[in-house]
Amino acid sequence: MNGFNITELVFELRMPYAKFGIGALYEIGYDFSKQKLKKVLIVTDDYISKKTDYVERAVSSFKQNNIVADVWDGVEPEPSDTSIQEGIEFAKKGEYDGFVAIGGGSSIDTAKLIDLCTTYPAELSDYFAPPIGKGLPVPGPIKFLVAVPTTSGTGSETTGTAVVTFVTKKSKFGVTHEYLIPKMAILDPLLTISMPPKLTASTGVDALMHAIEAYLAKPYNTRERPQSPLSRPAYQGSMPITDFLAEKAILLIGEHLPRAYANGLNIEARANMHLAAFIAGVAFGNAGVHLAHALALPLSTVAMEKGVKLPHGVAAGVFGPGMLKVLEPFYPEKCSIIANYLSGGAISCAHEALSEFIKTLGLPSGLHELGITENDIDALVDAALMNKRLLSISPIIPERDVLKKIVIESLRY
Ligand SMILES: [Fe+2]
Repeated sequence: MNGFNITELVFELRMPYAKFGIGALYEIGYDFSKQKLKKVLIVTDDYISKKTDYVERAVSSFKQNNIVADVWDGVEPEPSDTSIQEGIEFAKKGEYDGFVAIGGGSSIDTAKLIDLCTTYPAELSDYFAPPIGKGLPVPGPIKFLVAVPTTSGTGSETTGTAVVTFVTKKSKFGVTHEYLIPKMAILDPLLTISMPPKLTASTGVDALMHAIEAYLAKPYNTRERPQSPLSRPAYQGSMPITDFLAEKAILLIGEHLPRAYANGLNIEARANMHLAAFIAGVAFGNAGVHLAHALALPLSTVAMEKGVKLPHGVAAGVFGPGMLKVLEPFYPEKCSIIANYLSGGAISCAHEALSEFIKTLGLPSGLHELGITENDIDALVDAALMNKRLLSISPIIPERDVLKKIVIESLRY
C-alpha cells in the first residue's frame, strides 16, 4: 500500500449466532420458522440417524412448526469428495431453502459444501485451490445453515472452513471463506453424552490445540495491512478477544476434559466441554491455527498410506508438546498460563504439562506409537511447508528447521 510496509490496524470477529443449553435442539423448528423457511435438508451420518434419536428430535420440532424436513445420512468420517458429491446430488433434487448439519465436524463440513454447491452450482473441486481445482472464490452468502455439533472439538460450527479428503490425491485439502460460517450453532450438551471415551479424548484435544494455537498465533497487528477489507484473511492472527477466549477454553478443557473422559454421563463436564469447544472454535476461526495443524494434515495422509485412519484430534495433538517446546522461549508468559491451566498449577513447563495431560487421556505419547519413524520426517515437513495459509500466522518464522525440530520432538515424549 503506497509503497510502504504498513501493518494491520483492524481486526474482525466473525462467528455464528449461537444457542447453548440442555434441550436446545428442541427449539430448532422455531429457529427456522423465524427465517420463514419451509423445506430443509438434515445432513448427518448413518450412526446418528440409526443409533440415536437426535434426528427424530429435530424432525418433530420442524413438524410442530410446519416445516418439511428430509434426511440425508451419507456423511463419511473424514469425508471424501465422492461422499460429498453424493450429498450434493441428493440435495439438488429437493430444492431446499435451508440445511441442518447434525454430527461431528465431518457432517458440518459436508453440509457447508452441499449448501455451497447447490446455492452456486459448480464442480466441488472448483472451489479448492490449484492443483486440486480452479480456486473459485465463494460467490456470496450460502443458504441458511444451522450446525448442531454432537462432538465437542472440531469447532466446525464456528468456522468457514471445510476439509475434504480427495480420493485420487489421497490427501486432505481445506477451503475457507467467511460465507461458509454457519448462520447459527445449536449447542446442546445432551447430544454429546453418547460419545465413547476415545472420541471424547481425540475431539477434546483438537479443541485444546485450537485454543493453544490461536493463543500463540502471530499478533494480528504484525501482519501486513490488506489492500482492501475483502482481502483480509480468514486467519488474522491473535487479537485481544481471541486471547481472552483461548485462555478461557484452555482453563475449561484443563478442568473438564479428564472428567468427561472418565465419565461420559457427567453432564456438567460435558456441558463445559461443549462450551469450551465452541469458544476455542471462535478463537481459532478468527486468529487461526498454524504449526501443529499444518503438520497434522500431512500426518493423516502418511498414516493413511500405512493403512491407519487417524482421528484429526490425535494428529494435531501429537505435535502439541513438540510445538510448545519450540515456542516456550519466545512466549514465556503465555506458555506459563497454558502450563498452569492444564496442570492446576502443578507443572510450570507448558510442553510437560501438555504431554502429561495427553497421556492421562490415553492418547499416543508420540509419533512412534502411530508407526511414524525418522524416515517419515522429511515427507511430513515438505508437505507442511506447502500449507502457506496456516504457516502465514505462525508466531515464529516457519522455516524447515523449525518444523523439523517440532517433528523430532514429537517422536517420543
Ligand atoms: Fe483441528
